[in-house]
Amino acid sequence: MAKFSLPKSSIPVAGEEFLCAELDAQVKRVEIYRFNPDHPNNPRIDVYHLNLNRCGPMVLDALLKIKNETDSTLTFRRSCREGVCGSCAMNINGKNTLACTQAISDYPETIKIFPLPHMSVIKDLVVDMSHFYAQYASIKPWIETQTPAPADRERLQSHEDRQKLDGLYECVLCACCSTSCPSYWWNSERYLGPAILLQAYRWLADSRDENQGERLDELDDSFKVYRCHTIMNCTDTCPKGLNPAKAIAEIKKLLLIRQKG
Ligand code: SF4
Ligand code: SF4
Ligand code: FES
Repeated sequence: MAKFSLPKSSIPVAGEEFLCAELDAQVKRVEIYRFNPDHPNNPRIDVYHLNLNRCGPMVLDALLKIKNETDSTLTFRRSCREGVCGSCAMNINGKNTLACTQAISDYPETIKIFPLPHMSVIKDLVVDMSHFYAQYASIKPWIETQTPAPADRERLQSHEDRQKLDGLYECVLCACCSTSCPSYWWNSERYLGPAILLQAYRWLADSRDENQGERLDELDDSFKVYRCHTIMNCTDTCPKGLNPAKAIAEIKKLLLIRQKG
């Protein structure tokens, strides 16, 4: 089996430990990856002892409590705190997920929080999403039409056609799936990865879109789609319960039908 190792400068070292002095404490140990680009030493793992009696129920609440009360330099993204903005994506105890939808009580032992894997870290839990967003823009995530819109109403869709978007439109672009995909780890420059491909299929499946042929032309590339080897990490990790692997299979089916036709 192939063995991989991190460059020496990327191996996290032991950091600070913040104990809890409150008397009524029900203590939870939380370990968090820290990296400060202004002090480019090795990343470190800081340890925080949290009083759960004075903390909200979710992992994001734990991060906010640490930032507000213990260490204001801790850096992470968040916005909606209810699983719809996708910004609090991180790796918690080995699985990519949204910190705001994960209950602290789901982790009976220590909680270990890392940034999304195989992404460049900007600071602490914040990773550089520029390439991911550029890939998203490349699939033209909007309706493309050839015919003029009806003069008196929107472009309508039947109930059945609308249902074809279920399981696709709910994607919050958190990148949990793409950053858990080994093919994306090794080929992210050219392989679009599960999140972007699920989004690509969302527009291919939209009955109102009139540019399916061009969209398929763009995807018909040995790397963009075909680096998916059905490993299924993406579907296993999606915090919204979506199935990017199925969407990728649907794209491959459309490409095949076109080749045969
Ligand atoms: S099914 Fe495809 S996209 Fe999903 S993790 Fe596997 S290789 Fe990646
Ligand atoms: S498919 Fe799921 S894991 Fe992937 S970006 Fe969308 S919501 Fe996140
Ligand atoms: S804060 Fe919006 S998904 Fe977690």
